[in-house]
Amino acid sequence: MDIPATSLTKSEILSKLTEYKSKDLPWRSGRVLAYTYDPGREVEEITKSAYMSYLCENALDPTSFPSVVRLEREVVRMIATLLRGDDKVVGNFTSGGTESLLLAVKTARDKARVERPEITRPEMVMPRTAHSAFHKAAAYFDVKPVLVPFDASTFKVDLAAMRKAINPNTILLVGSAPGYAHGVIDPIREIGQLALENKLLFHVDGCVGGIHLSFMRLLGMPVTDFDFSVPGVTSISADMHKYGYSAKGASVVLYRDKSIRKHQLFACAASTTYALINATILSSKSGGPSAGAWAILHYLGENGYKQIVRDVQTATGRLINEINAIDGLRVLGEPVMCMFAIASDEFNVFDLQDEMVQRGWYLQPQFSTETSPSNLHITVNVNTLSVIDEFLQALRDGVEAVRKMPNPTRRADLEAAIAPLLANPSSDLPAQLAAMGGLDGSGLPERMALVNTVLDILPDHITEAMLIEFVNDLYV
Ligand SMILES: Cc1ncc(COP(=O)(O)O)c(C=O)c1O
Repeated sequence: MDIPATSLTKSEILSKLTEYKSKDLPWRSGRVLAYTYDPGREVEEITKSAYMSYLCENALDPTSFPSVVRLEREVVRMIATLLRGDDKVVGNFTSGGTESLLLAVKTARDKARVERPEITRPEMVMPRTAHSAFHKAAAYFDVKPVLVPFDASTFKVDLAAMRKAINPNTILLVGSAPGYAHGVIDPIREIGQLALENKLLFHVDGCVGGIHLSFMRLLGMPVTDFDFSVPGVTSISADMHKYGYSAKGASVVLYRDKSIRKHQLFACAASTTYALINATILSSKSGGPSAGAWAILHYLGENGYKQIVRDVQTATGRLINEINAIDGLRVLGEPVMCMFAIASDEFNVFDLQDEMVQRGWYLQPQFSTETSPSNLHITVNVNTLSVIDEFLQALRDGVEAVRKMPNPTRRADLEAAIAPLLANPSSDLPAQLAAMGGLDGSGLPERMALVNTVLDILPDHITEAMLIEFVNDLYV
């Protein structure tokens, strides 16, 4: 593809972009129960205008655009206060949950390099339910992830196993508030105690829940403590671009004090280029996300957030009750806020996912683990509230349709077919597995249950290799 020789007009360009979007998920409809956190058009417009007004300002050098530093500092202070941090708590604005978690892990590693130089292979002890961004951080920064199992009914990390997993190489403990998959909060106070006893850093991943849970607390709803009020918590991440409702590219990572945070920072005077000092991973970056986040905090204010949280929690309570009443479906664990997962002991939930897509609803498939069945994730959004009855009806119809399927996707049959291939793998294994999942190289099939079930059955490292092949072919 060449750069066009002649220019298009603004309206031609915008209409082409609209056309490009036509197959994307209809996220404004309330029918997409993952990926987006839509506060409605009016709120969206505020964050958009603020974002655009800072689109081209560069947050690279804190001395050239002091207003961007000011925006970031004010957003960070507001979130630090919400998370009950005192004046010593410091933090930075980042591009998202992943960057915040990468930084928390890098900070722990670099602090250990200075203070515990005897450690040659640092380890972080984290629940199996912790977000995959921690695995990415482990891979990027060469920190060994030590996974701790979770209770099969509460989905909280097994504390006794966590205690046992700590060893002289451990530099960091992790807990989630809540974990994305099941919406369950780990026992943060108890993990904090473990951190104190073992003199370890402890990061609470509040990326998806830090803000929403805090407003639940302010509304007097039952939420166990997960923030800086808990002794032993040394850092927390909270994403503005999730339930903070700002546009993508906005998260905050906070530390108990500057003596920890300084290990996050990077400076370089050894190059012929300008002297570089980065608070976070990116260098040149738009001021848009921080302006958007700052704007939404001021526009919604505490009362606006409380109103949203109250409404969303009421709707979530109803959803959970009514889903549990559908024969064959159950909500996993005891989700605290407005995200949860549904599973079935009677049919393949990936078939249900396909049926829901056919009815115009998008739920997110999640794979099984030793102690969790395959399930579908639901993120409740403000825009879902007006379509709750329709959703529940579609779900009931979907379950009926799956029960009547002449050829449901049978996991046991696929397991039996895959086992011999894995026992004697040939060089053709990836192609054989792809064919088994119904992939013929012509893009994704309309129904995804087969692909998802095959990927779910395969050992993690093979699933990961297949996903990498898929994406390697996608971006060409
Ligand atoms: C608990 C949790 N942590 C981290 C992340 C990663 O955030 P991001 O996708 O913004 O990088 C997510 C994303 O959903 C999450 O739910």
